[in-house]
Amino acid sequence: MRLIMVGFGTIGQNLARILESKKKQLLREFGFHPRIVAVVDTAGAMINPEGLDLNRALAVKQTKGSVAKDPELGRLGMDAQEVIEGVEAETVLELTPTRIVDGEPGLSHIKTALRRRRHVITTNKAPLAIAMPSLMEMASYNKALLKFSGTVGGGTPILDFVRKCLNGNRIESVRGILNGTTNYILTRMAESDTPMDAALKEAQVLGYAEADPSYDIDGMDTACKLVILANSTMGREVSLKDVEIKGIREVTREDIEAARKKGSRIKLIGTVDGGVSVRPEAVPLGHPLCIGGTLNAVSFRTELTGELTVVGKGAGGVETASAVLRDIVDVRRALAQ
Ligand code: HSE
Repeated sequence: MRLIMVGFGTIGQNLARILESKKKQLLREFGFHPRIVAVVDTAGAMINPEGLDLNRALAVKQTKGSVAKDPELGRLGMDAQEVIEGVEAETVLELTPTRIVDGEPGLSHIKTALRRRRHVITTNKAPLAIAMPSLMEMASYNKALLKFSGTVGGGTPILDFVRKCLNGNRIESVRGILNGTTNYILTRMAESDTPMDAALKEAQVLGYAEADPSYDIDGMDTACKLVILANSTMGREVSLKDVEIKGIREVTREDIEAARKKGSRIKLIGTVDGGVSVRPEAVPLGHPLCIGGTLNAVSFRTELTGELTVVGKGAGGVETASAVLRDIVDVRRALAQ
């Protein structure tokens, strides 16, 4: 299975390490060997049609700042579009950062790949939040798969839980914590009185925050995930403009203290019921959504099984890379069938 990796930041590099360390396991358990034939970062590409040595790609990235600086396989200035158009591969991994203004460059990468009938696996929320129905249609028209488990819940299989475990059931509403960075910040503010700015810096150092952390703080990241969730699991046709959004920027120490006195914690909660909204809410201690750190938790109210809650790490390079790995295995299985 040949793959092109577009974006070689936290997620891409962690995926490279995972793929290197799991070569034998993937062959033994799933009977295949994923070969990354190209890696693209902002300065250019590194290409080997036989499959790249990912340890070498990681070393070049770390020592020289870009994979394109590999003396033999590097192509300085070659961009993602050229690579997607020109390098033979079945699947494109689109792992560039979320840019909500226009979804670019991820949106164009995904469209080009689908038009070329390549399967796409993405962790980039913006293209989906902006253009999910048309991308799904484009994928189906070109008989290509479009997978995006890592866009919601990081490594926690929130979308897969619905897709694979609730067949025949119906989701009536969703309520949850979908952003690890704000959960981390609110937890630090409540438990150790850390100011919001300092807690955000910690979350950035730990690799949880978005490249533009205002997406986390102002609720946009949660809103994108709600849009993806609502479209892909609830049959809703909503986009970002339908989401009522209030982030945590105005949450004060006093608010946190007042919630504590009432036996609650403030959490940034995303809800899909009659409408779609994001806002800070006080959640009582002991409630399934009252979880700390970078955890995500999503409660589904279902038609046949009442309320079901999925909890797990929602951010982090390794965790999100694990979602890409799940999607790679899914694509492989679909191709084998
Ligand atoms: N910045 C996001 C978060 C990363 O904190 O949840 C995962 O989507």
